[in-house]
Amino acid sequence: NRIPEYKHEPFTDFSLEENKLQFQNALNSVEAQLGQNYPLLIGGERLITKEKVVSINPANKGEVIGNVSLANKELAEKAMIYALNTFEIWKHEDPEERAYILIRAAAILRQRKHEFSSYLVKEAGKPWPEADADTAEAIDFLEFYARQMLDLKDGVPVLSREGEKNKFHYIPLGVGIIISPFNFPLAIMAGTTAAAVVAGNTVLLKPSNNTPVVAAKFVEVMEEAGLPDGVINFVPGSSSEIGDYLVDHPKTRFVSFTGSREVGCRIYERAAKVQPGQKWLKRVIAEMGGKDIIIVDQDADVELAASSIVKSAFGFSGQKCSACSRAVVHEDVYDKVVEKVVALTNSLTVGNPAEGNTYMGPVIDEKSFEKIMKYIEIGKKEGALVTGGQGDESKGYYIQPTVFADVDENARLMKEEIFGPVLAICKAKDFEHMLEIANNTDYGLTGALISNNRKHIERAEKEFHVGNLYFNRGCTGAVVGYHPFGGFNMSGTDSKAGGPDYLILHMQAKTISEQI
Ligand code: ALA
Repeated sequence: NRIPEYKHEPFTDFSLEENKLQFQNALNSVEAQLGQNYPLLIGGERLITKEKVVSINPANKGEVIGNVSLANKELAEKAMIYALNTFEIWKHEDPEERAYILIRAAAILRQRKHEFSSYLVKEAGKPWPEADADTAEAIDFLEFYARQMLDLKDGVPVLSREGEKNKFHYIPLGVGIIISPFNFPLAIMAGTTAAAVVAGNTVLLKPSNNTPVVAAKFVEVMEEAGLPDGVINFVPGSSSEIGDYLVDHPKTRFVSFTGSREVGCRIYERAAKVQPGQKWLKRVIAEMGGKDIIIVDQDADVELAASSIVKSAFGFSGQKCSACSRAVVHEDVYDKVVEKVVALTNSLTVGNPAEGNTYMGPVIDEKSFEKIMKYIEIGKKEGALVTGGQGDESKGYYIQPTVFADVDENARLMKEEIFGPVLAICKAKDFEHMLEIANNTDYGLTGALISNNRKHIERAEKEFHVGNLYFNRGCTGAVVGYHPFGGFNMSGTDSKAGGPDYLILHMQAKTISEQI
């Protein structure tokens, strides 16, 4: 094996002047490239359409990041045909060759790291370290799934009795529809796409209409890395025009979706219906929402508790599916923790991340802005507003980091996903009560316990029902290969991105037995 052992991509240290300067230079050069046209890519052909999505900077609404062509049904159908035809060739490609394309793509991304992160700053409003982590995670997915494919390429050993020779290996599924979100416009888009194609499938990639430029740039990287035409077909489009059409399509073999619970459930339901001419049951890989929580025990380190809560609640303006939107604190340390959370929150800077290294940027668009502001109004009735609460959409979609204390465990703020910088804090009488609150939503994505009580940690391991459970740290920031990521219940299909069984979700197992 020529490839070194997997290690995650290090994050850039922005306390070093040299790194800041390099990043600023990358931002400047990306700024000079804004406003270009981006075509669809279907079977290697670049197609400019009349209808376009204008991608804007959520931190500065007047700034156009790019104009991206939109596919209609006809073009989606054309892409499907290319993907189907290419699958017949691509499925026979040596898995090693497929893996090396991902490794080469990772190398290109690594070389152009700050450039890609700058696009994330501009198109998603990500603060620098968040953008840097997104790019690092994309590199990680490429490196990790390449190695997973190398591990799987000869199958998995099974027993053979005397007189027979048995084999068990994985083959690809077919054409997949990749529908990716705005919040990790590079990492999740690249990870879900790369996993599908390295496993031997061909795909139609429909990125979020908030962040299509980063996706277009990534597709160029895959081409440069040697991916043949027609393996990834780039088809941005609206859900109503092509989303449903592709999910319903009888030739679609699987759908890999990351996004809201509402859309995820819709896809799951539609994909379950067997269409005329369909020869299989479609597979759905869904990563949906969360109502993630940090619980703080009686004997916890309150500094650690407060910093974990604040970082997890307000990193990327609370727009991570893993973000901490609920904190439940033991009554004995409640006042101290609330006080420290408020003080830390008040120290956070909010502003345009392109103009300096702010802690928080804007939220993604007007619809999000309005939804979050609506929840802030609900919060004012359900709890005590202890900091934040204001929004300003005159230049970009800015919302102050907002904390509500004394929220009842059954309040809407404690149950419904907001996807913004709003934290609800609730008091609990004992550990039992905290666990009960932790498990009382429809979701089950991430959760953390801050505690020095070994018995409680052991109990939480068994009873805290989330896909990603953390102790004495925050509940965001899963790292590919180290913390396979995905949730229970309405958080999705528990497909663990960046984990040892992720690729297999894009494949089917074949048993071969020969009498000898
Ligand atoms: N993987 C991302 C995190 O853990 C969503 O925060």
